[in-house]
Amino acid sequence: MGSPPARLGRSCPPASSHVTTVTSGCHDGAGNHARWVTPAVGYHPRVADASAPTSADPTGVAAKLQERAERVIPGTAVRKRIHLYDLLSDYPWYVEGGEGATVVDVDGRTFIDLMGSYGPNLLGHRHPAVELAATRQRSRGDSLGAQTPVAVELAEFLCDRIDPVDWVFVGKNGSDATSYALRVARLATGRSKVLIAEASYHTAHDWGTVFEAGVPPAHSGLTSRFVFNDVESLAAAVDAADGDVAAIMLTPFHQGYFETPAIPTEAFVAAVHSQARRAGAVVVLDDVRGGMRMHPGGSSHAAIGLEPDLVCFAKALANGRALSVCGGSAALRDSADQVGYLGTFFGSAVAQAACLATFRAFDLEGAFEAMTTSGGRLATGLVAAAAAAGVAIEVTGTPTMAMISIEGDDWDRYLNHIWAAGMARRGVRIHPTQAWYMCAALTDEHVDAVVERAAGAFAEVAAEIAHPTRVGRER
Ligand SMILES: Cc1ncc(COP(=O)(O)O)c(C=O)c1O
Repeated sequence: MGSPPARLGRSCPPASSHVTTVTSGCHDGAGNHARWVTPAVGYHPRVADASAPTSADPTGVAAKLQERAERVIPGTAVRKRIHLYDLLSDYPWYVEGGEGATVVDVDGRTFIDLMGSYGPNLLGHRHPAVELAATRQRSRGDSLGAQTPVAVELAEFLCDRIDPVDWVFVGKNGSDATSYALRVARLATGRSKVLIAEASYHTAHDWGTVFEAGVPPAHSGLTSRFVFNDVESLAAAVDAADGDVAAIMLTPFHQGYFETPAIPTEAFVAAVHSQARRAGAVVVLDDVRGGMRMHPGGSSHAAIGLEPDLVCFAKALANGRALSVCGGSAALRDSADQVGYLGTFFGSAVAQAACLATFRAFDLEGAFEAMTTSGGRLATGLVAAAAAAGVAIEVTGTPTMAMISIEGDDWDRYLNHIWAAGMARRGVRIHPTQAWYMCAALTDEHVDAVVERAAGAFAEVAAEIAHPTRVGRER
């Protein structure tokens, strides 16, 4: 057994006022820092084209692509078996392109995009400053088989910017960063197990996925789950691991399937620190989803008061380009030096240049404040639109990532599906069971359009509540 890594004992900023649970329109989420800065000159995000078709055409381009995909891409036919898929037939399943805060599907329908590509769309699709940096780097080469100057520049930048980070590993997907983090933690501690929250997804690899098909019990057996925000459950998981905990991994924005989002409480963060000390384990922050959307510095450790030994980022970091990072404390540097965790494209310089440009534009444009303001405006507007239709909703999460819950909904969020499908027919892409991701290209005009269209979608929900069509759905 190795000895536990020494903690650096750096002071961590207090939990930020940016981390909020927005409920029933009680505040606008703007805080005191809100400020809207006009996006870069020449950048004109569109609002949906009113003359575009609304419903998906069963004989259209998307339907034909689906037919072809079912023959050659695993999982595409299975999608039709996803829960309540039949309600989502008008969804933009095949997308031609994106610009700013909108995407256009293959049948020419334009959508205001509140899904943000599940996180990467931070500043707007094809943000000009990020595209320019990527194009410049591409003109010199991308995968060049050696470190490029931009790799060193990026590593130095991240070490300067993010307090707990003294060195960085760069990969492609979030799964690379979290799996690398676990490898480092295991080497540093000489222990095997990782403790993660129930229903949390940390990687496509065997140790941290919620999808069990094909995962050998011997692999998943090295992972134990605790109940998020439950101090006793965490302590019990440490006890049960019998001295063999390499890492406790925590996400700052937890959302299980069909559940509302949750943020770690102060008490739980304190418990993570004390249990990690007791177990001699490494604290890992999985900021793959929350990064850039929970704190203006980029890393969410400062928003929740966590002092991680390792922190993992991906999704939003390069505004849509494949790039992930695991950053660590100096105490873990020796282990990091020894871990061989390689990928052919990990050194891709284009994504690294895009990442630096993303941070620059993020700061310059006041992107965090802009997303916080427009997310608050959206939450308030949706609550009012729902109330006007006679539907009671709650909006939960942070202003930049939140979702609605409809009073009286079924466990599988049936009414949310009706609402999201209604939004799709009105040119808004929003997920029925997962949080929205704000992007900085969403203007007041977009948000107002979303709220206006939501009125019609809530009217459909009100009709379903008044006269349920779902079999067995008695009210
Ligand atoms: C919290 C969290 N960690 C890790 C991952 C894995 O990231 P990726 O899909 O980029 O491998 C995800 C993906 O959604 C995630 O939400």
